[in-house]
Amino acid sequence: ARLPTAARMALEQARQRNALREAETRYQSLFDDVPVGLFKVARNGRFVDANPALIEMLGYADRESLFTAKVLSFFTDPLERRALLTVLDEADVAEHFEVRLRRRDGKMIWVEANARVIRNDREQVTYYEGSLEDITTRKLAEQSLRESEARKGAILNSAIDAIITIDERGHITEFNPAAEQTFGRRRAEVLGKELAGLIIPLSLRDRHRRGLESYLATGQGAMLGKRVELTAMRADGKEFPVELAITKVDLEGPPTFTGFVHDITQRKRAEKQLRDSREQLRVLAAHLQSVREEERSRIAREVHDELGQALTGLKMDLAWLDKNSRPASTTDESRQAGEKLKELPARVDAIIATVRKIATELRPPVLDDLGLEAAIEWQSQEFEKRTGINCRFHSGLKHADLDQERATAVFRIFQETLTNVVRHAEATQVNVHLREEGDKLVLEVHDNGRGMAGRELSGPQSLGLLGMRERATMLDGEVNIISRQGSGTRVDVRIPIHRPGEGVKS
Ligand SMILES: Nc1ncnc2c1ncn2[C@@H]1O[C@H](COP(=O)(O)OP(=O)(O)OP(=O)(O)O)[C@@H](O)[C@H]1O
Ligand SMILES: [Mg+2]
Repeated sequence: ARLPTAARMALEQARQRNALREAETRYQSLFDDVPVGLFKVARNGRFVDANPALIEMLGYADRESLFTAKVLSFFTDPLERRALLTVLDEADVAEHFEVRLRRRDGKMIWVEANARVIRNDREQVTYYEGSLEDITTRKLAEQSLRESEARKGAILNSAIDAIITIDERGHITEFNPAAEQTFGRRRAEVLGKELAGLIIPLSLRDRHRRGLESYLATGQGAMLGKRVELTAMRADGKEFPVELAITKVDLEGPPTFTGFVHDITQRKRAEKQLRDSREQLRVLAAHLQSVREEERSRIAREVHDELGQALTGLKMDLAWLDKNSRPASTTDESRQAGEKLKELPARVDAIIATVRKIATELRPPVLDDLGLEAAIEWQSQEFEKRTGINCRFHSGLKHADLDQERATAVFRIFQETLTNVVRHAEATQVNVHLREEGDKLVLEVHDNGRGMAGRELSGPQSLGLLGMRERATMLDGEVNIISRQGSGTRVDVRIPIHRPGEGVKS
């Protein structure tokens, strides 16, 4: 059917009007619903249009109240505002501009602005229009990342320890200034290189690689979370001791490890010096002891032999004199002289006894002549005689045969123990046991005295006890003191019967 032209035109116009209205409605709903702020600003700097997203973004209740605000007053930084206006002025468009705005409630937001200039026929600015997107969350995340990077950098840079981070292949990802100093290598030169080849001595490299592999395979690391002492290597190949602590960095993705490395060369040196000087002191003490012992032996011998013989000679001469000299006169004086002469041999005898006693105390001959067992028995009897403290000696020795050095040490320790009993114990009974236990000689001295407190055992004044311990230590032996206040004291001495390397005879 053919319609008249006028009717066709009317229909066509109606269809176009409908299409336009539809397009406008579509545009309007887009404008209302997009999550991006859209605006139109007049030349006078006031909004003439704004979508709901923008109104909300800027913190306004409705468009009317937004329209009363001046656009330029939203900028918090005049420099950012000027930069945006300059670009719009020169290029008519500004894209991806990041600026800070202040919302109505005073809160600052970051937005990304896209804007363009609309001009009339005469090229005059009539409007600015465009979009604003709130990027505050992203900006704050970026900023906190930057801050944490800066903090990390500050820690790395000021750390005294060398801090090295490696990735799961063992390649260096971080190397701080202290690490540069410690290892004599530049950060730029080592980043990305394998750690093993740079700072781990050849002898330890395989172990390091295996450790890393096994961690990656099993998730278990023997070195993780501990402090270990290792050897590291400088750029010039010099090896030095370090203390190392490795931690796994807890992040998503493949594991990375951070090592804190502390050069302990100084500490090691000091430790060695301390050890050396202790050893020297020990050697010195041993030397002094043996010198003293030799000295005593020599003096004892000379006193005994020379003085003893001289006195014996003197005694014989006196006896001869007494027999062969007849007084020429019988005056009182000469009779008195005769009596004095008769007394002299007895007095010389007393002197001889004293000389013997001195020599014996210096170094009892029984120790050299009959051995340790006899010497200890003899000393026990002497002790009882001299002090009145009951002293019982029990020996279970079978065939222990100590060399002179060992026998002397045990004997001197025994003497010091008895001296302590007299001086401190207030005991009435002492029991002495001598026996063998395996390849050790054991001497036990037990008193029933007052006992001692822990502090007396190791006080700085306890030089006697220290000397006993030292003597035993020098022979690979030991001295143990078991004592409680009020219940007596037991001193246990244990000395290997044979010199080290001499072999055990049975
Ligand atoms: N048998 C004991 N009974 C009770 N106390 C003892 C005994 N032996 C030692 N002591 C205590 O242990 C301390 C340390 O003894 P140590 O032999 O080291 O020193 P000392 O005898 O006081 O002096 P010295 O250096 O002259 O031997 C003594 O002062 C004493 O208090
Ligand atoms: Mg003492």
